[in-house]
Amino acid sequence: MCPTTPDHSGLPLPYEWWHEAVIYQIYPRSFMDSNGDGIGDLAGITSKLDYLAGVLGVDALWISPFYTSPMADFGYDVADYVDVDPIFGALADFSVLVERAHGLGLKVVIDWVPNHSSSKHAWFVESRSSRRNPRRDWYVWKDPAPGGGEPNNWVSVFGGPAWTYDDRTGQYYLHSFLAEQPDLNWRNPAVKEAMLGTLRFWLELGVDGFRLDACHFAMKDPDYRSNPVLEHPEPGYKDMGDYDRFVHLHDRGHPDIHMLFREVRAVLDEYSAERSRFSVGEIHLEGEEWAAYYGDNDELHMPYFFGMLHGDWTAAWARRTVGSLEAVLPPGAWPNYVLGNHDEVRIATRYGDRRARMATLMLLTLRGTPTLYYGDELGMVQADIPPEEQQDPWGRRQPGLGRDGCRTPLQWTADPYGGFSTVRPWLATVDPDADRNVEAQLADPDSMLHLTRRLLEVRKGSEALRIGDYQALEGLPETVFAYRRRAADGETVCVYLNFGGEPVRVPAAGEVLAATRRDMAGPVGGFLLLDGLDGAVLRP
Ligand code: GLC
Ligand code: CA
Repeated sequence: MCPTTPDHSGLPLPYEWWHEAVIYQIYPRSFMDSNGDGIGDLAGITSKLDYLAGVLGVDALWISPFYTSPMADFGYDVADYVDVDPIFGALADFSVLVERAHGLGLKVVIDWVPNHSSSKHAWFVESRSSRRNPRRDWYVWKDPAPGGGEPNNWVSVFGGPAWTYDDRTGQYYLHSFLAEQPDLNWRNPAVKEAMLGTLRFWLELGVDGFRLDACHFAMKDPDYRSNPVLEHPEPGYKDMGDYDRFVHLHDRGHPDIHMLFREVRAVLDEYSAERSRFSVGEIHLEGEEWAAYYGDNDELHMPYFFGMLHGDWTAAWARRTVGSLEAVLPPGAWPNYVLGNHDEVRIATRYGDRRARMATLMLLTLRGTPTLYYGDELGMVQADIPPEEQQDPWGRRQPGLGRDGCRTPLQWTADPYGGFSTVRPWLATVDPDADRNVEAQLADPDSMLHLTRRLLEVRKGSEALRIGDYQALEGLPETVFAYRRRAADGETVCVYLNFGGEPVRVPAAGEVLAATRRDMAGPVGGFLLLDGLDGAVLRP
């Protein structure tokens, strides 16, 4: 055996379903259209649950927002936190979805958007109507700066000032994202009570957890001080527009956010007698600052870890990234990994097809809860949407930053509309490669879909992979990142990933259970041969 680094385990016992689950993210507009209007919907998702549970073999779904919404940010602008937008169906459709999903052993996680509502939400309509309205203080209203203009220098994530002036009452309101997404004032106890009530509503309907959208934005500096300007960007700094010109010291992540997350956790715990109800937060931070959101096992069950999304794709990078996550985890906290989501360029485009296969093998074998983005199991690529067809408000404001390309309909078949709809979908199914669809890939044992299925199957059958500890293996060729996973009862699996372009031989013996190339499966005696960009899961 190879020498190893110190181990990382600390799995809290008893462990819960979400420790060992593989989560599959669904962007509901683009998964399956049941009624021929070109937009995916809840009944469409329900009709494909067999694919998720039976064909693919994931354990939980996270469904991006399907709340009532004017769709300025495609559902991340919520006009009613306790109803379904007619585009997606009705509450009854959601109940059917939950019931069927549970019947198939799938958990259902939904998005929750605490930082902002839609400007069309009844709360905001009241709030903006007059300075004396009882809901005025449900949002953040400020007078113009002394000399006129915005109250401070905060900018919106999507570009432009984070403040919009409202003539009617002569004040500015705050929006960390679009002007159509006013920020709720979480320092108002009535807001907190109403919003926690919306969690209870969905918990009563049987949801198993929540993905908390942009959640550390919910608490800002109570004095609304301006942010420092970023004078000297770090090496590797990537200009993503206005937002990246500032140090975001005051406009998000005020320490009071931890108190709020404890209250969210307490609500989840109220409903956790039978099974743990789970939370995962969207928090784009790193290191200790990121890890603080686990709290003392009393805040988020996990903050999403985005460190694998961008990197120079070397073995040293992968190993360092995993090591850096493991090193900052508080006692008993559980890691997680993500390779893509509805905000990021598709992995097959970002890293290339071969690397996407290897990355999936890594995602599904590291210690922690993986989230698979819909379509990545087919290696779907980023679509190139012509400017006049772009839908994403971010891309329309700041060309090049649009996210439509990763949100195109899931390709079920090679039909013109991908078997997704009977009409031209809201975003075209544009893919140069006709094989990137479920039907074609099911027929091809070497496909990305079969690789993903096989990995999920191996993972299901191995306690070591699901909940075992993690140790990096030492003393291997420089281009190889390898690790050992081991269960409490001693069951062991080793994973070898060759990040380089040249073949390598690593000392190993046992049986290859799954690999980026199917012909690598089988017994290995003494040496494992890995071609460039190949990876293998081996049972010693
Ligand atoms: C999160 C979502 C993103 C959305 C934004 C505003 O970052 O992932 O899609 O646009 O929040 O709600
Ligand atoms: Ca539809």
